[in-house]
Amino acid sequence: MKEVKQRMAASGSTLGKFWLWLDERIGLSDFAKLAKKKEVPLHRHTFWYYFGGMTLFLFMIQVATGILLLLYYRPSSSEAFESIQYLMTEVEFGWLVRSIHSWSANLMIFAMFIHLFSALLLKAYRRPREMTWLSGGGLLGLSLAFGFTGYLLPWNELAFFATRVGTEIPGVIPGIGPFVRRLLRGGDDVTGATLTRFYGIHVAILPAIVTVVLGLHLFLVQKHGMSRPPSVENTAKRAMPFFPNFLLRDLVGWLCALGVLAALAAYFPAELGRKADPFQPAPVGIKPEWYFMAMFQTLKLLPGRILGIEGELLGVVGFGLLGLVLVFMPFLVHGGSGRWSRFPAAFGIALIIYSIVLTYLGYTMSPTK
Ligand code: HEM
Repeated sequence: MKEVKQRMAASGSTLGKFWLWLDERIGLSDFAKLAKKKEVPLHRHTFWYYFGGMTLFLFMIQVATGILLLLYYRPSSSEAFESIQYLMTEVEFGWLVRSIHSWSANLMIFAMFIHLFSALLLKAYRRPREMTWLSGGGLLGLSLAFGFTGYLLPWNELAFFATRVGTEIPGVIPGIGPFVRRLLRGGDDVTGATLTRFYGIHVAILPAIVTVVLGLHLFLVQKHGMSRPPSVENTAKRAMPFFPNFLLRDLVGWLCALGVLAALAAYFPAELGRKADPFQPAPVGIKPEWYFMAMFQTLKLLPGRILGIEGELLGVVGFGLLGLVLVFMPFLVHGGSGRWSRFPAAFGIALIIYSIVLTYLGYTMSPTK
């Protein structure tokens, strides 16, 4: 690094001088040294390392397009729908920005699920990466909350009734249930107060928390480096420099994702539907976003009472427990060796199969069932 600095200074170029000026003030060469030292293990599962970066890229698209949407969006039940209608029809490229925000949200959650399950199956949560896993669990919850709160913002019929169903669900928990439902809705039903609340959560509270949790997640990834899965521990320890080799490969993936996003947004622009009318009956076949479909369909299929307990309550408690097992996996299996070594993979695969089957049923079964 000293060599680079000397060469740049000797060249006398403006860029060289600017580098030296910045380096003296903020220690740029320390960052460069860090980037040069960072390596990514090379083995037959290296491909999966690209999905964390892909999730990060799609998250950055969300931030950029979200800020642009904020310039036109109005968070009240009398103006929200109209402001989006205006954006879609009158504002130049407004439809494109909204469509990219909507498609990128879906792709980001999809990339995050791939990232989560690959980290689980490759046992990346083992010591010393327990906190990396836990912060990832936080990011999972925060991303789902982004999706749930964002869905209501256009204030259309589908979003309104889906939110009414979604915010009803925690109400079945004895004791705190009704309180949580009121807290989410800002009252007894979904109204303009819910919209204002969801807006505040979506554009201020969640971004603030995500900044901290994502910062911790990325710091820990830098601190510990990428893990080597146990299944390749006995193979030759090859590695690729992060800068520029891995980063350039990352960029190719991001460029492909941008192409897919642009095509999806152009050929299938986000729809708006009809404005929400709380006095109309709920339309048949209300559906949540695809990533909530498996849970939604399970609750729909559960019988009214199971062994004297309300079916929906058992469902909600069951999902809560599954979430806890997933998030606390590193502590449950103690490093993943011994009798429990196969549990995380079996749990992950069972969860993937269950989610695919129930999501499929959610989209194909008759809405009256
Ligand atoms: C907004 C969501 C997320 C973002 C932007 C993100 C970003 C990243 C990035 C850039 C990396 C390094 C590259 C890679 O391993 O792919 C990483 C590593 C990691 N992430 Fe995430 N992540 C997110 C969510 C999650 C979730 C939901 C989990 C699991 C609960 C998780 C667990 C991990 C673990 C354990 C590692 C270390 C992998 C290793 O050392 O092999 N992350 N994350």
